[in-house]
Order: sequence, then C-alpha cells, then structure tokens
Amino acid sequence: MIDYKKIIADKLDVPVSREELTSMITETADDTFGDFALPCFRLARSMRMSPVAIAEKLAADFETDEHIVKAEAVNGYLNFFVNRLEMTWEVISDVFAARGHYGDSDIGAGKTVCIDYSSVNICKSFHIGHLSTTAIGSALYKIYSALGYRVVGINHLGDYGTQFGKMIVAFKLWGDRTIAEKEGVAELQRLYVKFHREEPSHPELTEQAREWFARIEKGDPEAQELFEFFKRVTLEEVMTIYDRLNVRFDSWNGESFFNDKMEGPLQLLRDKGLITESQGAQVVDLSEYDMPPCLLVKSDGSSLYATRDIAAAIWRKKEYDFDKCLYVVAYQQNLHFKQFFKVLDLAGFEWAKDLVHVAFGMVSLEDGAMSTRKGNVVLLKDVINKAVDKAGEIIEAKNPGLPNRDKVAEQVGVGAVLFSALENSRIKDIVFSYDRVLNFDGETSPYLQYTYARCNSILEKAGDYKSSCVPGDYRALDNPETLRLIKLIGSFPQTVLDAAAKYEPSLISALLIDIAQAFNRFYIAHRVISDNAAEQNARLQVVEATAAVLKRGLALLGIEAPDKM
Ligand code: ARG
Repeated sequence: MIDYKKIIADKLDVPVSREELTSMITETADDTFGDFALPCFRLARSMRMSPVAIAEKLAADFETDEHIVKAEAVNGYLNFFVNRLEMTWEVISDVFAARGHYGDSDIGAGKTVCIDYSSVNICKSFHIGHLSTTAIGSALYKIYSALGYRVVGINHLGDYGTQFGKMIVAFKLWGDRTIAEKEGVAELQRLYVKFHREEPSHPELTEQAREWFARIEKGDPEAQELFEFFKRVTLEEVMTIYDRLNVRFDSWNGESFFNDKMEGPLQLLRDKGLITESQGAQVVDLSEYDMPPCLLVKSDGSSLYATRDIAAAIWRKKEYDFDKCLYVVAYQQNLHFKQFFKVLDLAGFEWAKDLVHVAFGMVSLEDGAMSTRKGNVVLLKDVINKAVDKAGEIIEAKNPGLPNRDKVAEQVGVGAVLFSALENSRIKDIVFSYDRVLNFDGETSPYLQYTYARCNSILEKAGDYKSSCVPGDYRALDNPETLRLIKLIGSFPQTVLDAAAKYEPSLISALLIDIAQAFNRFYIAHRVISDNAAEQNARLQVVEATAAVLKRGLALLGIEAPDKM
C-alpha cells in the first residue's frame, strides 16, 4: 500500500516535525469527506492562527499530484482525497504479487521469539481451559513466522510434582496397562481420584507415595519407567488434538527437564544476596515491589514452579538467544510471572525485559459447565467433536450434495472452536456457545469460511477468468462499497504487524470479519458477472483479492478454508 500519510506530510509546510505531523494524519471514517484528514486545531498554538484559517491556508497552498488529487478545508480539518483508482490497483496488485502470502514480511529476519504455550500437565485431562493458550499461542507462532522471525514453540510440560508418587502407588495397586492404553488419561484420572478417596482410611498410602516420588527423583528405573508410561499415554492423547488443530511444537522440555538445572541459578541468586531464609525456606523478598516473596526452595529442600521457570528462562536464553520469550498463560498466573520476571531482573539479567506474560481470560460453557477440581471437566476433544458433528449437520442441511462433507465439517467445526478463543481481545473471559460459534451468519469462523467459498464459486462461474492477466476497467470499482473493501484489504499487512506487536491475534480476526462483511455488501450492490467484460474483470479481481486475504488471514489463525462449502 502506498504510504499516503508520508506523501501528505512531505507536502505540508508547518512548524512541527515530519514524524509528529504524520502521526496527526488519520484515516477518515466517511469516504465522502476524503480518505485522510489533518485536524488543524493541534497546529493552532504553534502557527498562531485559528484552525479554520490554518486549514484554508494549507488547502490553498497544497500542490496535488498523481497520488493525492484533492485537499479540502472543512471546519478546521484538512481533508485529502487519494487517487482511488491508483490505490485500488496498488492494493490488488500487492495481493496478487504476494501469491498467497499477502501480509508476510521479513522484519523479523535474524530475530528469535520463543513461545511457551499450551503446556500440558501429565496425567491430567486436556480440557476447555487449555483452548485459549493453545489457540492464541499457535496463532502467534504462525504470525511471527509469517513476519520472518525464527519461532521456537515450547510445550513446558507439567511433568514434575509429588502427585506422580501418588499416581505410581495408585497404578500399582489398581491399575492395568491395557486399560490405561485404551482409556488414556481418563483412566489415569480415575486412579488418581481413587487414591485420594482411599487415602484417609489407609494412611500408609501417603508414605508409599512419598517414597515413590523420592524414587522418581533419584532416577530409579522402575519409577522412571512408570512415569514415562504415564507421559506417553498423556501425550499420545493430546497429540491427536494438536494434529486436528494444526498445532506444532519445537521443544517439549518441561518442568522435569530442569531438575538438574536449578542449582546454578540458585547459587547465582545467593551470590547476589537476593535470597533470604524464611522459616527454613529460601525466598526472594519482593516487598519493595509490592509483591509477596518469591518462594524458591521449601523447608524440606524441594524446588517450586517458580524455581523451574527461573532455570528455564536462563536455559532458553542460552539455548535460543531469544529476542523475546512469550508465555501464553491464563491471567490467574499474573503474580507468578511478575514475581519471577522481577527476580531475574534483580539478578541483573538485562534480557528480563524481553520476557512477556501474554495473559488471557477464562473460558466457560454456556450451560455453566466448567473445568473444576471437582472433576466436572469439559474435555477439549469432546467440545471439538461436538462442534464438528454440529457443523456436519448444518452443512448437510445447507448443501446436501457437498463432496468431502466430512473433511469440510472438520475444518468448519475446528475453525469455529479456535476462532472462539481468537475473536475477542484475549484478556476477556469467554462464554462458549455452540450455536453462536457455528452461526454461519454471525461474526464467526464459519461465516469467514463461507464468504471465502462464495468468492471461489463466483470465480468459478466466471469461467475463463485468469486473475491479473486481463486488465480490468477500474472505473467499475469507483464506488463506496468497493472502496471500503479495498481499504480494509489494504490494511491487512499493517494489522498483521500490530497483532504481533500487541500479541493480539484478535486484531486479525476483527479485520477478517470487517472484510467479509464489506465483501458481502459489495457483492449485493454490484453485479460481478456482467456483459461488460472489462467491468467484470475488474470486479473479479476484487473477488479474487478478497478470497486471498481471507484464506491467508484464516491460516494465520490456524484455520483452514475449504474451497467449497
Ligand atoms: N502447566 C502449567 C499449567 O497448567 C502452565 C505452564 C506455563 N508455562 C510456564 N513456563 N510456566 O498451569
């Protein structure tokens, strides 16, 4: 897209810096008053004139050119009209030239971003509470990759803790490998719950669990083998979900990977005088920063979640030399991240400023069901399966003869679930509703996919149309509906950059919805297929550009776009 703000700023003779002036120029909300505007009241003081007089003077002096064709003073605003046909042509040719990768760039070349996301807990079910971290982390992975960064996706496994001692005791008493293989995590969870039920009346279980945990820590072969078995059963199950969601990781180094990597960092903190003893425990006092102390070693000598995260951050910096390390984790853990980031900062790691907690809100289901400790868990795979089933029913009703129905239902159902976690600014809590996320006319992923498929069917109907090969008559595009659509498409590359800078994939989601709605308005207002070949060609180019940006935008969110729906 042509940098109109810069072109305008370069032509204005006012006593403020180019930079400041550029930032004062905004896009207009209503095209009838021009495409860009400069509010002149902010120049009144330095120019010692009224805003109305400034706007009039600047308008009179303004020299138009092939990019900016008119400048008009209106009530203290200076409005600019761009050469709209040129802009349209630029946007469309940018999309075509990018060959399916519109919005990509190389601004990240040579830089590395680590993204810690999804981070499953071994022996625990993968539930709806894991949706946001998985969807947001994976989208950021794809967005940063598109911008040329080297991205390292990290699944910081929850694979350490005394609960694994209990798991082993329970498994040895009541478990069975064949059943666990078949039933997966559900069976492991059942055994774990049984342990807690039996424990009060069989106090010896507590001691046995402690012993087994100690054996895991010592690397005892039997303990190790059982633990690896639990890990395999858990990961095999989540892996099928990751495959369906198109989610990838480059590292699976979780909490236990840092078992032997905490002593160095702890010693360093001691040497710096940061660690104090408190009732036998070792802590970093953070009262000066209005935070409770960061607990690093318990009185029995065992380490904590924060100890491992500190070791992990130091290890990652050494291993990947990241420019940024993102942690896509629910806001409930705000304090944990603030604390350990602060500890690293106090320890003198200048890169502590590059650690970012990308926090998000909670997900609950419309019917009030939620994942709780009481075992009232809504599994992510059940949500996906149900969404896919419902998508299949809707498709069957709308388009009974559709080839590849099951594949399309999978793409639509999975897309709807992912989009529900990506549509709003991430910090908002989400109430998940099947009917809402699968509404083909709502602000949903199926609506975007449907619009994409509609674009394809128009292009198909047009027969021998072959994109940019044939010049179109762009005068057919000089109307408010097309202009609005083109401007939105033109803003896509900047939106991808903003989404990365703010760790906010929802900026892309929102733009895609705007584009789809603008497209549908364009389509209702203007016949695409017509007798005038040049006109038809120009409009088909708009359709093709829309399809390309919808497909690319959805891909950045991890959502596939079926050609037909
Ligand atoms: N497994 C943790 C949980 O379920 C999330 C881990 C997030 N990553 C980290 N480095 N702390 O709460």
